[in-house]
Amino acid sequence: MVKKELLYEGKAKKMYKTDDPNMIIVEYKNDLTAFNALKKDSIEGKGSLNNAISASLFEYMNENGIPNHFIQKIDDTHQIVKKVRILPVEVVVRNITTGTLCKRLGIEENIRLPRPLIEFYYKNDQLGDPLILEDHAELFGWATKEQISFMKETSLKVNTLMSAYFDTLNIILVDFKLEFGVDANGTILLADEMSPDTCRFWDKTTMKKLDKDRFRKDLGDVLGAYREIWRRISEKEAN
Ligand code: TMP
Repeated sequence: MVKKELLYEGKAKKMYKTDDPNMIIVEYKNDLTAFNALKKDSIEGKGSLNNAISASLFEYMNENGIPNHFIQKIDDTHQIVKKVRILPVEVVVRNITTGTLCKRLGIEENIRLPRPLIEFYYKNDQLGDPLILEDHAELFGWATKEQISFMKETSLKVNTLMSAYFDTLNIILVDFKLEFGVDANGTILLADEMSPDTCRFWDKTTMKKLDKDRFRKDLGDVLGAYREIWRRISEKEAN
């Protein structure tokens, strides 16, 4: 597959056209941002770790019947995915309270929720991705009622699958963000990435943070945490 012109550059990835109109090539960048890009850095090796981690997790989704955009990893920092139109709605699933949930609502940190909490955010950098209701998404045409139901159901299934998977790696899946897109046939698919940039992972024994919170909160050794996630995933794959 030939990498052609740049279609779009995001904060952590670049999307390129290919010779197939239904496929694009994603390049995972070393750039890291937080707080709507107010905080920025670049960490050598982050892109290739996220490419590998995301590819493995999408493969796991494929094995478990979660329709998604992933086709194939092609090298260290690139993967081929189905071309989709990303819906401007981000879905966050939370198992344990932390992050903006605690800040926004004054909720205590580190409480395991009796069931997963699903939140929708409007994907709009200028507005800082505000929290929205399902009704906003439907009434303003960001997603249909059916797409919203699909996103909720699928996000819960992904949570069950990912929580079980990471449990075997001695990692707690605290929360994560998903994005969905619509392909050329109008089919809705899980898209974007699944990585320590978009999930919170805590070591079950030490509670050490193994994700982008190390960057957001200046905890140090960001790359070491991403490497640790990849080490545990790749060891599991080798068995
Ligand atoms: P939050 O607590 O900061 O709202 O984050 C919830 C989850 O969503 C966490 O796993 C990090 C992820 N996330 C993203 O992937 N992108 C974002 O822009 C934000 C704000 C959070």
